[in-house]
Amino acid sequence: MNLILMGLPGAGKGTQAEKIIEKYQIPHISTGDMFRSAIKEGTDLGKKAKSFMDKGELVPDEVTVGIVRERLGKDDCKNGYLLDGFPRTLKQAEALEDLLAELNAPIDYVVHIDVPKEKLLDRLTGRRVCPTCGATYHVIFNPPKVAETCDHDGATLNQREDDQPETVANRIEVNLEQTQPLLDFYHEKGNLVTINGDQDINDVFEDVDKKLQTLR
Ligand code: AP5
Ligand code: ZN
Repeated sequence: MNLILMGLPGAGKGTQAEKIIEKYQIPHISTGDMFRSAIKEGTDLGKKAKSFMDKGELVPDEVTVGIVRERLGKDDCKNGYLLDGFPRTLKQAEALEDLLAELNAPIDYVVHIDVPKEKLLDRLTGRRVCPTCGATYHVIFNPPKVAETCDHDGATLNQREDDQPETVANRIEVNLEQTQPLLDFYHEKGNLVTINGDQDINDVFEDVDKKLQTLR
């Protein structure tokens, strides 16, 4: 199963990705997560990415395409992949087409999680993440059992640096600009699936899953 998850910041890509990979056992390739790991490790890639992420800007295409190329070439992607947050520009989508042709691993579905722009600020500023296992929560919409504590491992939850209100507003604007041309691109190719992301987390997954079952 070869999938792309698209959606504006806070649409619920990471939340749905956790459920999809658990059920379908395909590797989760999130460019945002890859950049955050590189920042934590203090690598050159991390330093470069951080300068863009802190402002809510996109990391340059050549850098982003490079890390995806390397990741998709690994053995665990031979039985499928879930790309989350990539591609995000038309240039990235075109580079991905070439790459997937080389790997003979064409996309089955581009799942677009559609959420009205006005809902995104509350989702992002209320998000909490576990520094140990990466699980995502929301203080109101998806709270942990004990406040500020991960259900899985008891770690104290964090807020992402780019979830401050000023950065969030820019992230949404930057992504809005890039999104429509990408949606048009995949609509024309015929593999775009739009899911209503403005409903309960489990209902969103039910809709996604109904579509994915058609691939089995
Ligand atoms: P990335 O990490 O990909 O961030 P993003 O796209 O801004 O998306 P988010 O992770 O913020 O949101 P999400 O859709 O995963 O939502 P989530 O499930 O967490 O990228 C970060 C940065 O890296 C970018 O700004 C850029 O600089 C760089 N980057 C990454 N990829 C790049 C690329 N391809 N090109 C260039 N630069 C790139 O949910 C959000 C919150 O809402 C959570 O609290 C969750 O619990 C809650 N929630 C989820 N679903 C629901 C629901 N249905 N109802 C109510 N609440 C919900
Ligand atoms: Zn955890």
